[in-house]
Amino acid sequence: MADLDDIRDGNNYGVGVAQKNEGFFLKGSNHLDWGMKDRLSRIFNPATGKAVMLAFDHGFIMGPTSGVERIDLSIVPLIEYADCLMCARGVLRSLVPPTCRKPVCLRSDAGTSILTELNHNVVIDIQDAVKLNASAIAVMVAIGDRGAEAETVANLYQAVDAGQASGIPVMGVTAVGKDMARDARYFGLASRVCAENGANIVKTYYTEGFEKVVACCPVPIVIAGGKKLPEREALELAYNAIQSGAAGVDMGRNVFQSEKPAAMIQAVSAVVHQGLKPAEALQMFNDL
Ligand code: 5RP
Repeated sequence: MADLDDIRDGNNYGVGVAQKNEGFFLKGSNHLDWGMKDRLSRIFNPATGKAVMLAFDHGFIMGPTSGVERIDLSIVPLIEYADCLMCARGVLRSLVPPTCRKPVCLRSDAGTSILTELNHNVVIDIQDAVKLNASAIAVMVAIGDRGAEAETVANLYQAVDAGQASGIPVMGVTAVGKDMARDARYFGLASRVCAENGANIVKTYYTEGFEKVVACCPVPIVIAGGKKLPEREALELAYNAIQSGAAGVDMGRNVFQSEKPAAMIQAVSAVVHQGLKPAEALQMFNDL
């Protein structure tokens, strides 16, 4: 039986003090449900509104490419510096310590390797993302690719339906194919298509005119790093993207193919979260 004889009347109602009704810190995310916002707040730091995602999903299409031959040796030591990990489920289960306490953006489509053309990708079952406690799922969208566009947009749509039902945000990853342009017009269109189809985050590439890509995308954009560049250029890329309004980076090769990956991810993080200029960040990289 509940104890009915000692129920104390409340006397601290804060009458006259308005209840705070704060907006959510991420662009386009204010109307999402609590679970979505909670997961997004694990990925993006609410203090800065930004995220450094460490991408090491490359093996799912490229196999053991340089830097990801031994995830346990090359990537696991970097986990502490990342805000979020982006990888495929096989590597997550086999090599990422579940004790690392980092949010995971789970690579959630599969179907092709670099040995074939983009084709027939499917989305993994959302139940597996739930089991893996994913904070987001990532699905590739090949806008402008005649063979794969419709299928990959349908994949995104399906992922968004499943993600909404489970409170898991979806990141639309804009593909770059052989025949696809790599300018602000293309990335602006591809990013917008992802967002219009329900992506909660868009991952795309930095390009000249990037502020327009960001401006017309209603949800946060993070940039991929792309092929390995000299550290100075990679830090400039991150800096320019952040200054143009990106909400972070989802970087792989420019971190794990660096000669000093731990120094590189810390320098990138300082650019993203503290707004360090490229020269200062390079100095930090060298000092570390
Ligand atoms: C490919 C991806 C990769 O994770 C992405 O390209 C990030 O890695 P990198 O910085 O090496 O380009 O999503 O679809």
